Amino acid sequence: MREWAPAGIVLSGGPSSVLDPGSPDVEEAILRLDVPILGICYGLQLIVQKLGGLVEKADDREYGRALLKVERAEGLFADLPGGLEHRVWMSHGDRVLRLPPGFGVVGTSENSPFAAIAHAERPVFGIQFHPEVVHTHGGAAILRNFVQRIAGCTGDWTMEAFVDEATARIRAQVGSARAVAGQSGGVDSTVASALVHRAIGAQLTCIFVDHGLLREGEREEVEHAFRDALGIPLVTVDASDRFLQALAGVDDPEKKRRIIGHLFIEVFEEEARKLGDVDFLVQGTLYPDVIESVSVRGPSATIKSHHNVGGLPERMKLSLVEPLRELFKDEVREAGRTIGLPDAVIGRHPFPGPGLAIRIIGEVTRERLAILRRADAILIEEIRRAGLYDDIWQAFAVFLPLQSVGVMGDERTYENAIALRCVDAVDGMTADWSRMPHEAMATISSRITNEVKGVNRVVYDVSSKPPATIEWE
Ligand code: XMP
Repeated sequence: MREWAPAGIVLSGGPSSVLDPGSPDVEEAILRLDVPILGICYGLQLIVQKLGGLVEKADDREYGRALLKVERAEGLFADLPGGLEHRVWMSHGDRVLRLPPGFGVVGTSENSPFAAIAHAERPVFGIQFHPEVVHTHGGAAILRNFVQRIAGCTGDWTMEAFVDEATARIRAQVGSARAVAGQSGGVDSTVASALVHRAIGAQLTCIFVDHGLLREGEREEVEHAFRDALGIPLVTVDASDRFLQALAGVDDPEKKRRIIGHLFIEVFEEEARKLGDVDFLVQGTLYPDVIESVSVRGPSATIKSHHNVGGLPERMKLSLVEPLRELFKDEVREAGRTIGLPDAVIGRHPFPGPGLAIRIIGEVTRERLAILRRADAILIEEIRRAGLYDDIWQAFAVFLPLQSVGVMGDERTYENAIALRCVDAVDGMTADWSRMPHEAMATISSRITNEVKGVNRVVYDVSSKPPATIEWE
């Protein structure tokens, strides 16, 4: 670590408890290096425990918003908009009982007497709350204070520099070989392909696998965006029958993801093989996919197995080009803008690789797909009409195979429910439900129940992430 000469060290939060055997650890010697250190949540508790303080399991988990009061507007808390009081987001089970020698409290909240701590002489800090989530006001400024003021980094990383570096890196990696890219129609794969196309031009072929799990009109939109708006050639493969057959009778979400992931690769490989000599595969993997798909303790703690990372069969003889691997969603959009992609492409809401399959709770059938597709299209049409589309981070409908009683005319009905999921987020790692105007909800609900046969109830999801996730499966 000393040889590596870091400007600073951040020990991040995580789901483990420092009190459990086998939880992520750090050598005490690292904490004694003469380097600025910031411990966040789990990181704070690790610092406390390693340096001689005391951490214990609390009876209740502290979870949600809290008001942080800091003693002085300096160090991590210098020049924050809130002055001495900040809304922060807490999520921890363990709590600190006693600080290690040399440490003092610099901030408290109602339930956390050790909400922010600092060493008296060395630049070692700990915060119990999460500065990285949008619900913490001024969280980015706190991190900036640590990285720039305390650790002395300059912050000269710009999107232009990223695009130039990525272009050069792609050219160096691919050379004169050929590459293929899988298109899902989403922002990530589009930006990844556009970036690679910028670097290697006609050496890239984009393949769009229509897995039959797309939204209404999506295939046409993607074809138009690629061929006409971006001028990138696109090969479309209709494999919907194969996917639906493979998904028949499957209701476990992770199994659905695996089936779709494997089949996607199979279909994709068949198509890529037709192109002749191809050595590289472009993927729009983002940093959250990387974080959420790996785990220090093995796959058991993985949140969701996103099919676009990991799990690529060994037999696939293509090397990966993943130009967005270090970016978050908002940065991907910025990269897209920097290389001149149209707003219509960049502003699209995220859409998961497994598509509508993970928005149908339980088995995926043609009938359920048709219902969901229509309900989803109505939701999107109406939020566009109400001018809400660009303010909402992601909006979609979920099919709930939960029959409930309704009444239509003089008849009792016993039909499915549709959940509307609309969230506000920055990068999708955390999210809050969108406070959509009631008039818009009313129009969407009555249109869905009137126009979509098989649905007699519409509900609006009011859960934030965490503890819920954005998708229902
Ligand atoms: P969650 O549901 O994990 O979603 O809160 C966070 C973001 O990731 C998308 N998502 C996926 N994307 N393959 C993908 O390519 C997947 O399996 C997958 N699952 C979730 C989700 O739509 C949201 O934008």
